[in-house]
Amino acid sequence: MPTTIRYSISDLATYFESTTYDRIMVLCDENTRTHCLPLLTKWIPHFQIIEIASGETHKNWETCMQIWEALVANHFTRNSLLINVGGGVITDMGGFAASVYKRGIKCIQIPTSLLAMVDASIGAKTGIDFQDIKNTLGTFYEAELTIIDPIFLQTLDKRQIISGFAEMLKHGLIADKAYFHQLLDYSFENTIDWPLLIQQSLHIKSSIVAQDPTEKGLRKTLNFGHTIGHAIESYYLEKENALLHGEAILYGMIAALFLSSKKFNYTSAFISALENFTEKHLSTAKIKIDITQVMKYIQQDKKNKGDQFLFVLLDAENQILYDIPCSQNEIIEALNYLHD
Ligand SMILES: NC(=O)c1ccc[n+]([C@@H]2O[C@H](COP(=O)([O-])OP(=O)(O)OC[C@H]3O[C@@H](n4cnc5c(N)ncnc54)[C@H](O)[C@@H]3O)[C@@H](O)[C@H]2O)c1
Ligand SMILES: [Zn+2]
Repeated sequence: MPTTIRYSISDLATYFESTTYDRIMVLCDENTRTHCLPLLTKWIPHFQIIEIASGETHKNWETCMQIWEALVANHFTRNSLLINVGGGVITDMGGFAASVYKRGIKCIQIPTSLLAMVDASIGAKTGIDFQDIKNTLGTFYEAELTIIDPIFLQTLDKRQIISGFAEMLKHGLIADKAYFHQLLDYSFENTIDWPLLIQQSLHIKSSIVAQDPTEKGLRKTLNFGHTIGHAIESYYLEKENALLHGEAILYGMIAALFLSSKKFNYTSAFISALENFTEKHLSTAKIKIDITQVMKYIQQDKKNKGDQFLFVLLDAENQILYDIPCSQNEIIEALNYLHD
């Protein structure tokens, strides 16, 4: 059953009136403990805290062990609850940890980054990186409840906001061009109607997931920009100047639009629009990558079938297409296009 989504942290009060758990653990990182947990404490009955180090490099097996060890040490049972308070790293990893602990304990997702609000915390995908490859281990596991409250965005820095915004642009590109343009028109200097924008993104993602929960077909369109984007993200993971997920996805989407224009005469106006956005907010629209290395990551992508590289692309009529095979040479051409 899909998770119940609520839009205010005060909805936790109603939830806890009708449920009982023997133990409750809140999973957070040092940032969400400082900035987000204080807003939540009055809504959650007696709980314990596991704090892990923030960042994608900690979304791994070792950190999961810490979580499971804390659950065991504190005698968490099948009737206990895990509440994940954080960005996509926490919601992905906490969801994964909950899904396998005693064959699955209940969890609540409280996304606190924009990216987690519009993307990571809904759709039931959980996971961790393994051997430096993104989301290699994971499960499909629905949270009991997901609270998406923009109140948390007040303490999120601009770079993280842009990273989440990238996934919103993705939703616009694949499903609602008017929304895409509406997003591009926003100036981050002015007040933004977050509740409205977030709900538009959630509507797009939820309706796609509802039609294809286990990604047999249509849900693949949500991976738009992610084949090359994930490879670039993995490549940068080892570097000092690591890219945020959404930043890497912006480059992945530009590459996917480039492939779309090559193969299906996709309109170049949208490519320029996305490049301008990227240039404005990421300091440059070009990156420096070792193409051979990035190609190696693309070869390990879960979405490949045999020797074929399968892409989500757009055609000249703006229709989204999935499972489109692209050759290694075509991909290298797209990577060269991104490359400075
Ligand atoms: N499961 C899915 O469907 C799905 C979809 C998209 C992305 N993801 C995953 O999401 C992850 C990226 O998520 P992210 O961008 O949220 O990264 P993140 O979890 O690392 O959070 C970004 C940073 O912001 C901090 N932070 C979070 N909320 C804050 C707040 N309110 N105030 C101050 N600081 C705050 C965190 O501590 C962290 O340092 C990636 O691992 C990606 O693979 C999953
Ligand atoms: Zn993503």
